[in-house]
Formats: sequence, structure tokens, C-alpha cells
Amino acid sequence: MELNKKNIVVLTGAGISSESGLKTFRDADGLWEGHRVEDVATPEAFLENPELVYDFYNQRRRQLKEVKPNQAHLALAEFERNHNAKFTLITQNVDNLHELAHSQNIIHMHGELQKVRCMETDEVFPWTEDLDSDSVSPTTQKSGTLRPHICWFGEMPYHMVEIGDALRDADIFVAIGTSGLVYPAAGFVQMVSHHCYKVLINKDAANNNPLFHEVILGNATQEVPKFFQQS
Ligand code: OAD
Repeated sequence: MELNKKNIVVLTGAGISSESGLKTFRDADGLWEGHRVEDVATPEAFLENPELVYDFYNQRRRQLKEVKPNQAHLALAEFERNHNAKFTLITQNVDNLHELAHSQNIIHMHGELQKVRCMETDEVFPWTEDLDSDSVSPTTQKSGTLRPHICWFGEMPYHMVEIGDALRDADIFVAIGTSGLVYPAAGFVQMVSHHCYKVLINKDAANNNPLFHEVILGNATQEVPKFFQQS
């Protein structure tokens, strides 16, 4: 596949970060301390039991201090640096490994663990430490108004207009490490134009496999550098 001068859109999911040591969502049956992830990552769960939800994300935010980008994150960043056309990286991941690998044009559609949002003003702030209901909002100076800047089940993912524009313009769409189960991301492969060539790089067959022209089964750290070095 000739990647030169092509407008490329990459979509990443939890599988790209798994070899860095971060669990994918559907590992361990999607359970966290006996709770289904879908029962913690919702606005309703946050209203009912905010400390449980804060704790879920505090644990994940702490993990980021221990992990590093792997060969797949690094290969995407290096490719983007040398690429002579548009490159957009849409990620469902809330970790910061694409940033640490020095990718540039990153869209975090599900938010970021290292950001919080004030529920009164909607302002977003960098945040690297634990968060709880005593945390004070930098904008209102009040406690109890900050939440993780994460898109929960039942909420609209962020930057959808920008994502739609990028997908419509893509010549090549590459999905990496994503199960194709969670919409709208699972449907991006159907939002690209007719001429767009669609590739999936994933460890196991994904739910939306038949929608891709090419499916490369394997580990991201091996297959992503191979794919992006071929141009
Ligand atoms: P999943 O946990 O659903 O799927 C991860 C995929 O990565 C699976 O299909 C694995 O086969 C694949 N995989 C695992 N290890 C891999 C490796 N080393 N190399 C390549 N592929 C590998 O994660 P996502 O598809 O990212 O949403 O999940 C999508 C969304 O569902 C998440 O962003 C999250 C979740 O609920 C929100 O939090 C809003």
C-alpha cells in the first residue's frame, strides 16, 4: 500500500496500549472490582456514587505514571513527522501514550484521564493527581464541581464535527486495536468516502471486520511499524 501523499486517518483503541501494560476494556470480562465497566462509566453512576467513579479513574490516572509508549505509538508519531500529506489520529483511548510518543494531530474522542472538567463552567483543566469530591475547581474555587474529562456511556463523544470532516477527506483509514463494538467509533469505517482504502490492524477479529478491505491480525507493536514503514 502506497501511503505517500495520501490523506490518512488512524483510529486507535485500547489494543494499541495493551503492550504498554494498560488493560483493554474487554480484558477480564470488562469487570473492575466486581463492577461492570458500563456500570461505572456513566453519568448515573457518578450521581449515585461519585467516590466509586472518582476512584475508578484515579487508579487509571495513577497507572499513567508507570507506563511508556510502545513501538506502535512511536511508529505512528514517526510516520506523521515524515508524512507529506494530512495525518489525523483519532483515539478512543484516555491515556496519554500518543502524546508521550510525540504524535501531533491527536483527537481524543473519549476524553483524557489527565484532564478534568468543571461541571459549572464546562472549562477543562490539566490534572495529574487524584480527584475526589473535595477537589477544588480552579475556576469556581468550589469543591464538588469537578468530574473526569471522560465521555461516559450515554454521552456524546467529543470533536465529532472535526472527526466527520477528517473521515470524509481520508484516502486511507486504519483502525488499530479496537473491538469494533462501541459506537460511534465502530461506524467510522462506514463514514469514509467510496475511494477510501480501509485497513484494520487488530489482535483478534473485530466485530466490524467485514467492512475493511484489509485485515491484519497480530500485535500492534509488530504490525503497526511494519505497515507504516512500507511507504
Ligand atoms: P476493547 O477492549 O473493546 O478492544 C480492544 C481490542 O484490541 C480487541 O479487539 C483486542 O483483540 C485488541 N487487542 C488487544 N491487544 C492487542 C495488541 N497487542 N495489538 C493489537 N490489538 C490488540 O477496546 P476499544 O475498542 O478501545 O469507551 O473500546 C472502545 C471503547 O469502549 C473504549 O474507548 C471505552 C470502552 O468502553 C469509553 O470509555 C467511552
